[in-house]
Amino acid sequence: MVEARVEVTTSPEEASQQVARLRDLIRRHDHLYYVLDSPEISDGEYDGLLRELRRLEELHPTLITPDSPTQRVSGEPSERFQTVRHPVPLLSLGNVFNDEELEAWERRAMNLIPGEAIDYYCELKYDGLAVALTYENGVLVRGATRGTGVEGEDVTANLRTVRSIPLSVSGPNIPARFEVRGEILFPIDKFGELNREREERGERIYANPRNTAAGSVRQLDPQITAARPLELFVYSLGWAEGDVPETQSATLEWLGGLGFKVNAGNRKAATLAEAMRFYQDALEQRESLNYGTDGVVIKVDSFRIQRLLGVVGREPRWAIAYKYPAEQATTRLVRIGVNVGRTGALNPYAELEPVQVSGVTVKMATLHNEDYIRERDIRIGDVVTVERAGEVIPKILGPVVEARTGSETEFTMPPTCPECSEPVVRREGEAIHRCINPACPAQAYELIRHYVSRPAMDIDGVGESLVKQFLEVGLIHDSADLYTLTVEQLADLERMAEKSAQNAIDAIALSKERPLANVIFALGIRHVGAETARILAERYGDMDALAAATEEQLSDIYTIGSIVADSVYTWFRDEENLRLIAKLHDAGVRMREEIVRAAGDLPWNGQEIVLTGRLAELSRPQAEEIVRSLGGKAGRSVTKNTTLVVAGPEAGSKLEKAQRLETPIIDEDEFLRRVDEAHRQVGINLQ
Ligand code: IVH
Repeated sequence: MVEARVEVTTSPEEASQQVARLRDLIRRHDHLYYVLDSPEISDGEYDGLLRELRRLEELHPTLITPDSPTQRVSGEPSERFQTVRHPVPLLSLGNVFNDEELEAWERRAMNLIPGEAIDYYCELKYDGLAVALTYENGVLVRGATRGTGVEGEDVTANLRTVRSIPLSVSGPNIPARFEVRGEILFPIDKFGELNREREERGERIYANPRNTAAGSVRQLDPQITAARPLELFVYSLGWAEGDVPETQSATLEWLGGLGFKVNAGNRKAATLAEAMRFYQDALEQRESLNYGTDGVVIKVDSFRIQRLLGVVGREPRWAIAYKYPAEQATTRLVRIGVNVGRTGALNPYAELEPVQVSGVTVKMATLHNEDYIRERDIRIGDVVTVERAGEVIPKILGPVVEARTGSETEFTMPPTCPECSEPVVRREGEAIHRCINPACPAQAYELIRHYVSRPAMDIDGVGESLVKQFLEVGLIHDSADLYTLTVEQLADLERMAEKSAQNAIDAIALSKERPLANVIFALGIRHVGAETARILAERYGDMDALAAATEEQLSDIYTIGSIVADSVYTWFRDEENLRLIAKLHDAGVRMREEIVRAAGDLPWNGQEIVLTGRLAELSRPQAEEIVRSLGGKAGRSVTKNTTLVVAGPEAGSKLEKAQRLETPIIDEDEFLRRVDEAHRQVGINLQ
């Protein structure tokens, strides 16, 4: 570049032309390198161009513009990020996990638009951080994180350092203002390099590329972000003032033409079967990609039809995430224990050497039943593969046979119930061993323990040991019997002072007023967690109506799958269960919901939420502010008053305490979902 120095005397006009030429050249090579992955010049040649541009800009500072390639890193570190409100909220996606669920999704959509032919557009579902970029007159003016979808953080200075994001775009008919949305990713190979360097320097290792991408974007100092090799894949147009294409496929093609990085593997599909093939192909290629994906996204291609289908809550009916199977890890199975469930089922479970799966430490896993263990030839002492999907309990897929040493032992089901010592039976055609002793304390005990627990009927003062005593002395046989107890009966019990007897009776009486959702949850129906119970209560508002619901009606509820629907339906067809409902009804337990919301009442009133671990999408103060704005309290430590714990990666003692206290624990995604839902309840209009 020595010859360039000769031109020190360049006139301003010549300099201006040369600067423009150099910028165009650098932009072209940036695009070739960062967007198309096909560089045409060496790094040395590229650096020479950039050096020359810098030199000219130093000589003629008036020529510097914010979209010059020399200006990617600019500005001082900030104290905190400004909150920005998204003009059009960023939506979420519903999930499906298999072809049947995908077909059900299509059926639901088709029913709404009879006679319309749907073309799909298939994309990868990137596992990174969602951002929104605003361009005004072709220049990038703002970059924001997704945040809650309604509000995010202004990370413009940081996103400007991402080389696959054009600082300006040009071409015919570009809308005066528009917003592009996409996902910031950390390339997997670079992630490995970064961790190796950190390890050598004795620094903390990062957990995964996704959180590292999020962490890199949310650095207060853009210099740090600039040093991270982030990439952006663009997947939609948020909004635009001006003419834009009428389909998703044409939109992405247009955005690709403007210089944005759009996945070349995106494909149109004329039928759902084609979309399923796209999924299979993507799944096969997943490991060969240098960035994280956790499924594919299938979108209705036509915006006209998208508008017809609309949005439910925060999830569009016109798009769905078809997720890959859950993440797996291997660890040693130390012991197999057996629990007696609420229905008398003997449930074997594995105690594991703790292992991290999808950012969560797993110590236990379900083994379902004896056949499951036999079929997979799982032995005590084996190294096993563990899988965790969403929030469900982890399961063991099978042993790593090559890792066997010969000291592993086979498991056999105990012939008698570990609780009541009566013989267990395995009925014809059933995989489950059951204790059929109706007086087995374990069964009733598990059910009643669940009934009185905090997330269910919250009967303070009736703890596990009291439930055990009631059962042992025959005072109660089921949950409804709790309401027949008297102070005198309780005071007769060992170690029971009259005062505590009175407290327990008061607490039992008080529980009759618990919301319907809690009553439904308290019944202990398989697969009906607190969230599902809430949805059922909201939908039916009445126990009798729920009991009468058909399986089809139940599975029509958007978030309820066929397994849950089947479980609920079957539960209400059992004589014993109906008798229990009748007894609860006679005792005065709420069976119907009258939703009365006092003015100023907020959805999270009375909730005490503790945030722990690292959050990807939100800053801690932002999350706490959201909790407070919805009427909740943001607690600093986990106590028995804590109603919910939001745990991110690297959560430590608070998470352990929450597990000990059996406080409900959710992750950040679930938290954001609940925030969305609460916003809807208080009438924040999102669309
Ligand atoms: S479309 C329809 N397309 O998934 C509205 N999202 O659960 C959703 N994501 O926060 C946006 N890859 O960050 C869309 N090809 C893709 C995507 C994608 C990843 C993320 C996105 C969003 C989340 C929605």
